[in-house]
Amino acid sequence: MAIAVLGSSSQIGMDLFEEVGESHAYNFYTREQCNLYSKSDLKKTIPGHDLVINLAAYTNVELSEKNKISCLRANFIGPKNLALLCSELKIPLIHISTDYVFDGNKLGRYNENDKTNPINFYGASKLLSEEVINKYLDEYLIIRTSWVFGKQKNNFFKTMLRMFLEGKDVSVIDDQLGAPTSSLYLAKTIVQIAKRSIETNFSQWGIYNITGFPYCSWYQFSEEIKEICIGHGLNINSTIEATSSKNTSYMAKRPENSRLNTEKAQKVFDITPDDWKSSLISDFNSKKIQNIINEYDR
Ligand SMILES: NC(=O)c1ccc[n+]([C@@H]2O[C@H](COP(=O)([O-])OP(=O)(O)OC[C@H]3O[C@@H](n4cnc5c(N)ncnc54)[C@H](OP(=O)(O)O)[C@@H]3O)[C@@H](O)[C@H]2O)c1
Repeated sequence: MAIAVLGSSSQIGMDLFEEVGESHAYNFYTREQCNLYSKSDLKKTIPGHDLVINLAAYTNVELSEKNKISCLRANFIGPKNLALLCSELKIPLIHISTDYVFDGNKLGRYNENDKTNPINFYGASKLLSEEVINKYLDEYLIIRTSWVFGKQKNNFFKTMLRMFLEGKDVSVIDDQLGAPTSSLYLAKTIVQIAKRSIETNFSQWGIYNITGFPYCSWYQFSEEIKEICIGHGLNINSTIEATSSKNTSYMAKRPENSRLNTEKAQKVFDITPDDWKSSLISDFNSKKIQNIINEYDR
């Protein structure tokens, strides 16, 4: 069994690498080794695999509003090239998408088949990736997730942690609701799903929501990060001010309601939902995060 992982230096890719280690089944490819936009890179990389996991994407939501061509190359043309090749070679694809395909106007949780209507360019480009995969492939799994955090690279958790360690006061949006999702939990879940998807009788292809629980606002997320810091003996004096998204000057609009209903994935893949607060504590105690804390302690 051979599984290709594209975008291996993404947050999720790095956690996936830590999860499966040097397992012979998984082959990891960085952007340098396989650029999603390059048909020739894909043709060199993909054949011979039984499954492809695509973690590569243009993920800077704010910059997507300006760098539309770069965004479309990674989030539309790349997935299109990949889907066409996977279709030709009859290789199933696991692809990651986002809560930002929705406009956030629904009152309850979003189900997989709810009407999409992105309100920022990143969300629109990720929706294009979903549509093009659905157009060219029958055997695909699209995992929609949200607010990914972890010990790798940059994310909201690490930004807040640094602000607190620097003693800076922060102002955080409290009128957008969603679910923080641990990158390591996603990596573990992807391994579980990959295993199922390569079973000969597997047929439940399609879109799945996978996030952490419980839902919260960005403000509540930042409060939790601060509490964990203080609970672990850090002397944090930063204040957190709750603010409305109306007071911010972001180019990209974000949905007010990003809550995804994850019951379908739980049922089909026997997934245990992840309490993101526990995962946050594990990440906090990881060597990578402790090294950051120690840097500020000097
Ligand atoms: N982060 C979130 O909160 C979030 C929420 C919902 C969904 N998602 C989705 O989850 C997936 C992984 O997200 P992440 O946060 O783990 O990603 P990330 O850390 O931002 O990394 C994205 C990766 O994609 C690579 N990449 C960009 N363009 C590429 C191209 N043309 N060819 C090959 N690789 C390319 C980048 O390579 P370089 O390292 O060389 O730049 C980078 O390693 C993405 O599909 C994203 O849309 C993320």
